[in-house]
Amino acid sequence: MNIIEIIDKKRRGLTHSHEEIATLVRMMESGKAHDYQISAWLMAVCIQGLNMDETTWLTQAFVDSGKKIDLSEAGGVVVDKHSTGGVGDKTTLALIPMLASAGVKVAKLSGRGLGFTGGTIDKLEAIPGFKTSLSGIEFVEQIQKLGMAISSQTADLAPADGKMYALRDVTATVASIPLIAASVISKKIAAGADVIVLDIKYGSGAFMGTLEEAKDLAFTCREVGKRLGKSISTVISAMNQPLGYAIGHSLEVIEIINLLKGQGPQDLEDLCVRLGGVALIGAGRFDSLEDAENTLRAELHDGTALAKFKTLIQAQRGDVAILEDFSLLPQPDRVLMVPSPQSGYIAEIDALEVAKAAKLVGAGRLTKDCPINLGVGVVLRKKVGDAVKEGETLVELHAGDKDHWEALEVLKKAFHFSLEPVTASPLIEEVLIGDVWQKPSVKV
Ligand code: URA
Repeated sequence: MNIIEIIDKKRRGLTHSHEEIATLVRMMESGKAHDYQISAWLMAVCIQGLNMDETTWLTQAFVDSGKKIDLSEAGGVVVDKHSTGGVGDKTTLALIPMLASAGVKVAKLSGRGLGFTGGTIDKLEAIPGFKTSLSGIEFVEQIQKLGMAISSQTADLAPADGKMYALRDVTATVASIPLIAASVISKKIAAGADVIVLDIKYGSGAFMGTLEEAKDLAFTCREVGKRLGKSISTVISAMNQPLGYAIGHSLEVIEIINLLKGQGPQDLEDLCVRLGGVALIGAGRFDSLEDAENTLRAELHDGTALAKFKTLIQAQRGDVAILEDFSLLPQPDRVLMVPSPQSGYIAEIDALEVAKAAKLVGAGRLTKDCPINLGVGVVLRKKVGDAVKEGETLVELHAGDKDHWEALEVLKKAFHFSLEPVTASPLIEEVLIGDVWQKPSVKV
């Protein structure tokens, strides 16, 4: 079957064979299928969908297109956590030391931010000296020695996904559940961890607008993982307001250090503890989620996780003095306050608008090579449900030397008010723990 027939088949809503999916990916990689043909197929998929077999075959074809990391030498059960991306989502930075302190190995490959979502690697680069690019050997050796490592994801893992994602990004074809599942799961499989926890976000600042879509994506990811031999746990969490109070690179590092000192925002602590608990159960370290979560919460309040974070920074050549002196992190040129236009209660904070404001002052990038300002961003002073008086500060804009007026206007519009008390909707909606990792039996 040629590429035109493959596109036409999906346009008519028919089901592909394994061979057709593998052929399409091979032709894309070799350049035999043109970008406009792959784009046409992607749009047909967005409209007609892919069934679970097709999604699994696409995932497998992405994995097979590149290298796989071998973590068998890491010396224990290796955990990986991934978020589908949200505003102020900094959980990875805390989870690495929390999980390593709890006795599992953490192998984290992360990306840079694009569009409105922040990238963990960019956040770490706010720490002076922090080495975010480790070789494969350095990565595995550090996991053996310290139980944890984080590095930027290289282009040789699932490269076919990278190519297809670049086309999706410019053809309005990102928002497809099977395409997102294949993209995310292929990279997780290639990254080699034993236990995978996915934080699937929904709401105004997330790829999935509704809870139903998030549940659908969670189910698809778990099912594809199962068919390809990986146990995947999913947590669905709300992104209908930013997570924590800080959005921006230095600002998020500061919020994480405060969390590791036991003084973090409650929503951020709750989500980190839940994601970590799910990972520890998946890794077979605990039988009950409650026990796992109690252990993680204790680590945040007794200094254990902070001490572990210090060893991570030291190992990756970052300046540990930032743990006590936040002025060593990149700083904004000015901090502007946005006053509340009325008294009442905060009914909604549009996470996407807050992210847009952060991007307008330089915290986000339009294309993957754009420079960003690590010292700027937004700090919320109020969250959904809080009471506010007219004139009281709602939010701080930490700005650089760029014009900040548009960002201030965007921020003002992000806040919606109610005259009646408001209860914030639940942060965590659904937790589904995959099969618990079993030590492979040793052949004698
Ligand atoms: N993140 C990914 O890696 N892929 C997608 O398709 C969407 C979010």
